[in-house]
Amino acid sequence: MKIPTKKLKTGFEMPVFGLGTWQMGGRKEHDLDNDDEADILSIRTAIDSGITHIDTAEIYANGYSEILLGKAIKGYDRSKLFLVSKVHAENMSYENVINSCKKSLERIETAYLDLYLLHRHNPDLDLKQTIKALDYLVEQDLVKNIGVANFNKEFLAEAQSYTKNKIVCNQVHYNLEFREPEVTSLLNYCQNNDVFLVAWRPVGKGNLLENIPSIVKEMCDKYQKTPAEIAINWLISQPYILTLSKTRNIEHLRDNLNAIGWEMEQNDIEKLRKEYPNQKNISDTVPLG
Ligand SMILES: NC(=O)c1ccc[n+]([C@@H]2O[C@H](COP(=O)([O-])OP(=O)(O)OC[C@H]3O[C@@H](n4cnc5c(N)ncnc54)[C@H](OP(=O)(O)O)[C@@H]3O)[C@@H](O)[C@H]2O)c1
Repeated sequence: MKIPTKKLKTGFEMPVFGLGTWQMGGRKEHDLDNDDEADILSIRTAIDSGITHIDTAEIYANGYSEILLGKAIKGYDRSKLFLVSKVHAENMSYENVINSCKKSLERIETAYLDLYLLHRHNPDLDLKQTIKALDYLVEQDLVKNIGVANFNKEFLAEAQSYTKNKIVCNQVHYNLEFREPEVTSLLNYCQNNDVFLVAWRPVGKGNLLENIPSIVKEMCDKYQKTPAEIAINWLISQPYILTLSKTRNIEHLRDNLNAIGWEMEQNDIEKLRKEYPNQKNISDTVPLG
């Protein structure tokens, strides 16, 4: 299956759906009991199913997720993949950003990243210097595009003001239940400023697929889709929104891919926006993943 893309006005294009790797190889530390083969196979199965956008980070399993990704992509045409990694907030000094990126490239065994993200804003470091390091990585062709994650709209605007390179995305927590980007107008800001909002945790780590609210059941009946397909499609049917989900389960992968290639009606998008129960909007923890 060919995953559709969305395009910024600048011409930059990204697939509407990608594969996450949080918890592949461990959580914050490398889990020595991890089933590496299962993780590698899940990445390869995703690529064989048409997924090109794969998201990782230097802190995932303390770098081990990147190593697994490197093993998984061996033998595939690199130019057809869209690989994303992130620099940890503690490594955002000018020198450390560059070092972190080079180490990620070594672990993934690739010459470049398609997109490199700041994992979150670090108020203790000079954002201007951090962005300067991202610009250097672009100049050196180690990174094709730059972006951020978990930035509010003020920091996103500030980051953009320091670079001629386009900040192409902000990767943030957003799903049917978690609505902070709507409440803070970050979503509107991205839509008005030609920036992709890449929604992480689209199925709430699977929690959105339990105790299905009646409004979702209604949509499942109307569109003949599963709750996961509704949750993912609700995101990507909205302008400027892309998403990525992690799965190691082939049935879940199929389910998630069935969310693609059709569009929910605008009135149903708005109905879900309004009527989905128990919406949350304040993140009470530092993002994990
Ligand atoms: N920038 C950030 O700070 C940040 C934060 C969090 C995440 N992320 C990125 O975004 C990606 C996605 O977020 P996430 O992994 O936290 O959340 P997610 O994709 O909503 O949830 C992943 C979990 O849900 C299960 N799942 C996936 N599809 C399913 C389906 N169709 N039916 C039932 N269960 C399903 C998976 O289990 P199975 O493996 O058993 O299918 C996995 O445990 C991450 O992997 C990571 O790359 C970024």
